[in-house]
Amino acid sequence: MSGLVEGKAVLVTGGSLGIGEAAARIFAREGARVALAGRGRERGEAVAASIAADGGEAIYIQADVSHPEQVEAMVARVVSEFGRLDCAFNNAGAGVPSGPLAEIDAAAWDAAIAGYLTSAFLCMKYELRHMAARGGGVILNNASVDGLRGFPQDPAYSAAKHGVIGLTRSAALQYARQGIRINALCPGWIGTPHVVEAFRQRPDALAAALLHQPIGRLGRPEEVAELAVWLCSDKASLMTGAAIPVDGGYTAV
Ligand SMILES: NC(=O)c1ccc[n+]([C@@H]2O[C@H](COP(=O)([O-])OP(=O)(O)OC[C@H]3O[C@@H](n4cnc5c(N)ncnc54)[C@H](O)[C@@H]3O)[C@@H](O)[C@H]2O)c1
Repeated sequence: MSGLVEGKAVLVTGGSLGIGEAAARIFAREGARVALAGRGRERGEAVAASIAADGGEAIYIQADVSHPEQVEAMVARVVSEFGRLDCAFNNAGAGVPSGPLAEIDAAAWDAAIAGYLTSAFLCMKYELRHMAARGGGVILNNASVDGLRGFPQDPAYSAAKHGVIGLTRSAALQYARQGIRINALCPGWIGTPHVVEAFRQRPDALAAALLHQPIGRLGRPEEVAELAVWLCSDKASLMTGAAIPVDGGYTAV
């Protein structure tokens, strides 16, 4: 039986942890050749080896996606390894919590924009050059429900994620006639390791967060990743320019 993304060459940024790791594993399960990119070599190589041990195909690429030259080299490496790039899941993101807007210092703001928005822009820039030259491809950006509505705990994060959605929609319009689909995922609270650890230290914060997530629990990384893989597959051929919640009802309220 052939998989949902059989034979496709796929790049997953931030693919060695959390949602990205789950996506790398599910892409491979569904038949893709997977390049997972990240900053931590040891963990990235371990995930790639574990995918291979399960019968999948994966390589690890060392890259910090907030640096243009590393992003360009990352995309070039995927193309040299696999001969092409069919799908990219731009998932990597990191920053520091920002707090009340009047207290955000410029360096923390810059870090959030660089880590969550500029990184998505850089990935898209080099992926699109390749996809446009080949005449097709799929890009999926990992945004957040906080890109669809305000998030009082972290205005810089919310602004960056609104930016990711704006970038996604605009690029989708630019490239729709070139066979390139571009969408954004908007997860609610997902129980990735750093989220679980943060809530373990602050059970009151978990209870407060779940007040906004009607399903009453954290999502699992795999619940986001299954949708990511489907959106990158040919089954989603009519979907472009969409910002899709996967959030246990968070945005339904
Ligand atoms: N976990 C959630 O509740 C949640 C909710 C909504 C959106 N998201 C988004 O989903 C994405 C993944 O989140 P996660 O919770 O799985 O995160 P995570 O911290 O568990 O994993 C992110 C991975 O990306 C890597 N990474 C971060 N910045 C990088 C960079 N500049 N270059 C290369 N690699 C980098 C990290 O090292 C890590 O391996 C992020 O964009 C996040 O904003 C997460």
